[in-house]
Amino acid sequence: MSDLGLVILDSPDDEPALLRRVFDEVLRPSFAPAELPGWESFVGEVGGEGGEVVLVALDGDEPIGAAVTTPCGPAEVTLLCYLAARPGARDRGIGSFLMGHLLDRWRHGGAALVVAEVHDPRCHARTDDERPADRLRFYDRTDATVLGPWVQPALTSDGDRVRGMLLLDLFRSEPAVPAHLLGEFTETYFVFAEGAEPVDAEYAELRRRLAAATPGPGVAIDDLDLVPLLDVDPGR
Ligand SMILES: CC(C)(COP(=O)(O)OP(=O)(O)OC[C@H]1O[C@@H](n2cnc3c(N)ncnc32)[C@H](O)[C@@H]1OP(=O)(O)O)[C@@H](O)C(=O)NCCC(=O)NCCS
Repeated sequence: MSDLGLVILDSPDDEPALLRRVFDEVLRPSFAPAELPGWESFVGEVGGEGGEVVLVALDGDEPIGAAVTTPCGPAEVTLLCYLAARPGARDRGIGSFLMGHLLDRWRHGGAALVVAEVHDPRCHARTDDERPADRLRFYDRTDATVLGPWVQPALTSDGDRVRGMLLLDLFRSEPAVPAHLLGEFTETYFVFAEGAEPVDAEYAELRRRLAAATPGPGVAIDDLDLVPLLDVDPGR
C-alpha cells in the first residue's frame, strides 16, 4: 500500500482524538478483552515514565494501523504490546509498513532485545478473525524466532491469563543477549500486571523454560514443532 503516513505518539497529550480513534478503530476490534485493557488504562501508559510509544499508520487522516511498544524490565528489553491493521484493511502491507519503521527504531534505539507475544497456532484455532498461523508467518518474514511457550499475565484484576502463546524474539542487537534479561522482563511484566510476583506452578515453569532459552537465538518459526508446549496445570 503506497502513500501511508506515520505519526508517533509518545504522550497522551499528543493528538488525543487520534489516540482514541486508534484504540477504538484499530486495537479494540483486533484484540480480545483479556489482551487489551480498557481505554483509561491504555491511555495512562502512553508516554510518561513508562515510555510506551504508539506508531500510527495513516491513510490520509484515517488511522488504519498501529503498533504499541513499551520498555519492560531492564532498560534494554522492549515489548511489542500490539501490532494491528484495521479490520478490512489487512493483507495490504500496513503491518509490514509498521514493522519496517519499528525495526529501524530498534536498530537505532539501543534495545538489546525486543519481544512479542503471539497465539501459538497449535493451541488457537483459525477463525474468521483469528489467523494464528498467518500471523506467525508474518513475523517469520522479519526473521523472528521463538524463545519459548508463553502465558500472558492477567491484565486486569477480574481477567485471566492468556495461555497457549509463544514469546517471540523480534530483534536483538547482538547474537547473544545477557542471560538475566528475559527473566527480569518476565518478572517485571507479571508484577506490573498481576500486582505481585506469582508463586504458582505455571509461572515457575515459564521462568524455567525461558531461562533455558537465553542467551542464544530462539528456534526458527519453521521449526515450531521443536518447542514443547507449556504442559502444566494452571492451578489458578
Ligand atoms: C498480523 C497483522 C498485524 C499483519 O498486518 P497486515 O497489514 O495484515 O499484513 P501485511 O499485508 O503487511 O502482510 C501480509 C501478511 O500478514 C499476515 N496476515 C494478513 N492478514 C492477517 C490476519 N487477518 N491475521 C493474521 N495474519 C494476517 C499474513 O502472513 C500475510 O502474508 P500472506 O499474504 O503470505 O498470507 C494484521 O493482519 C492484524 O492486525 N491482524 C490481527 C491482529 C493481530 O493478529 N496482531 C498481531 C498480534 S501479535
